[in-house]
Amino acid sequence: MCGIIGYIGNKNARTILLDGLKRLEYRGYDSAGIALITENRLKVFKKAGKISNLESIVPQELSSSVGIGHTRWATHGKPDDVNAHPHTDCSGKLAVVHNGIIENYQELKKELEKKGHRFSSSTDTEVIAHLLEEEAKNKGFVKGFFSAVSKLKGSFAIVAISLENPDRLLCARKDSPLVIGIGEGESFVASDVPAFLQFTRKVVFLEDFQIAIVKKDDVEIYEFSGKRVGFSPVIVQWNLAQAEKAGFKHFMLKEIYEQPRAVADTISANKELFLKNDVFDKNFNKIQTVACGTSYYAGLIGKFYFETFARIPTEVDYASEYRYRNPVVDKNTLVISITQSGETADTLSAMRLAKERGAKLLTICNVIGSTATREADTTIYTYAGPEISVASTKAFTTQLTVLYLLSNYFGKKNMNSVIESLAEVPSLLEEFLRRQKESGEVEELAEKFYKTKNALYLGRHINYPIALEGALKLKEISYIHAEGYPAGEMKHGPIALIDEDMLVVFVCGKGETYKKILSNMEEVKARHGKIIAVATKNMKETKELADYTITVPETELMLSPIVNVVPLQLFAYHIASFLGYDVDQPRNLAKSVTVE
Ligand code: G6P
Repeated sequence: MCGIIGYIGNKNARTILLDGLKRLEYRGYDSAGIALITENRLKVFKKAGKISNLESIVPQELSSSVGIGHTRWATHGKPDDVNAHPHTDCSGKLAVVHNGIIENYQELKKELEKKGHRFSSSTDTEVIAHLLEEEAKNKGFVKGFFSAVSKLKGSFAIVAISLENPDRLLCARKDSPLVIGIGEGESFVASDVPAFLQFTRKVVFLEDFQIAIVKKDDVEIYEFSGKRVGFSPVIVQWNLAQAEKAGFKHFMLKEIYEQPRAVADTISANKELFLKNDVFDKNFNKIQTVACGTSYYAGLIGKFYFETFARIPTEVDYASEYRYRNPVVDKNTLVISITQSGETADTLSAMRLAKERGAKLLTICNVIGSTATREADTTIYTYAGPEISVASTKAFTTQLTVLYLLSNYFGKKNMNSVIESLAEVPSLLEEFLRRQKESGEVEELAEKFYKTKNALYLGRHINYPIALEGALKLKEISYIHAEGYPAGEMKHGPIALIDEDMLVVFVCGKGETYKKILSNMEEVKARHGKIIAVATKNMKETKELADYTITVPETELMLSPIVNVVPLQLFAYHIASFLGYDVDQPRNLAKSVTVE
């Protein structure tokens, strides 16, 4: 989830690239760099930190009309000057910027090292530069680019420049966005439109498996196979703020829609790790998870995973409670902190206490180089990309993805088949989200219920934490009072609240608790509560009992939380949106709570 910009034309590329990067800073901001072709030389400037740090090292007087730039959100390799993009080959004659994850970079790197290539960074991206150098040796820059791209696995948006053909930018896209801007005698390439919106609104969205040759007054598009294809530019009508959100009204909505990609990236980037034996120390007899907010609910689902797949007793703690309860923790305990930001004060304090008492620390974190990753013995990253909306969405589903992998690993399961079943989830999410774009089913429901004052979310088994998360999403952004409860506990309290004004959302899962949840629905119906059921199409009985059903794709029970949470995120989003609230920055809340 980094930002890319490329320029070729007659203007000063230095200014255009630096300005473009500033407009993309929301996509990633741990380091940045640019590469410019000037007087037949390639000049590269890279700097950790904000774009302003980079700006200070690029000479003002540098004159160039072709270049590429990148603002980074680290995925492989810590955020520093060396790992910042652009990356160059051994000769320093070509440079590349890249978004996404090259899954086979280690194999490619080994092959290239054998051929004499020297690597200086610990990124997956550098392999593209050397591969391109290798392929271009006999074939030239353009044919070499086609050939290099065909060898890459994973997700990527790539832009490359070379002294060999300084009149063009070469671009490739697979599962990571890239858009070409067509100006008068100048062209742009970027990961998102805001990077060049001030210069042109005429754009071509590159599609997956396409390569573009972009010159200042010409654009050619090809399939990876080399077949040339036609294209029709469109005129974007977005203003700058809309463009930053890729046309979505809010970052939260954009991030909800990014989940298929985020989950897929988390699987693909961690796959190798989980296919190896003995990467993670298994020398412990108990797990404790510590986390806050949405990440805490991921821990609750983690407990089901660890206890079901690995039969390891697991305790789940709010980080803020953990250290005040004198937990039983020692060297035989694995403490797993789950944190999007890696900076939540309570979570860090809980980790420190566990460390003092000799526990092993593992963190599941979304931010490379954050405090949690520095203090933990082991880190497993989620690859959600920057999460801007205060209400967490894609961080949660990627945390569940990692917990599913890790628990199966600890349970010594066949990881190939575990990964195979998990790999179906992104397409299920995609299918559900596509349907929402077409039918607006959840949005319609939100329109019916946005004036509600109270909501009860009920689930059982592994979908009980999803009921908690659904209620949290609603209350944090719409300020509607919502409670999550295990459906079976309803009769011990919440049932007293049910009347015709109470909205009750049931999160249904298959298996032995399915019939039980139907009885709970009967109980609500008998008291005239309004029921929304989140259920698959095979759960026919729910349609008879519920007032409304949101149909989710069928999946195995243990993976159902990753699917079932998405309609609840959307429901909360649309309700808050109908109420006219500031969805991305709800009152009183902060994205990262760095105080106790
Ligand atoms: C804040 C955020 C939540 C997040 C929680 C934990 O409350 O608003 O969205 O779930 O912190 O944050 P972490 O970064 O540790 O996952």
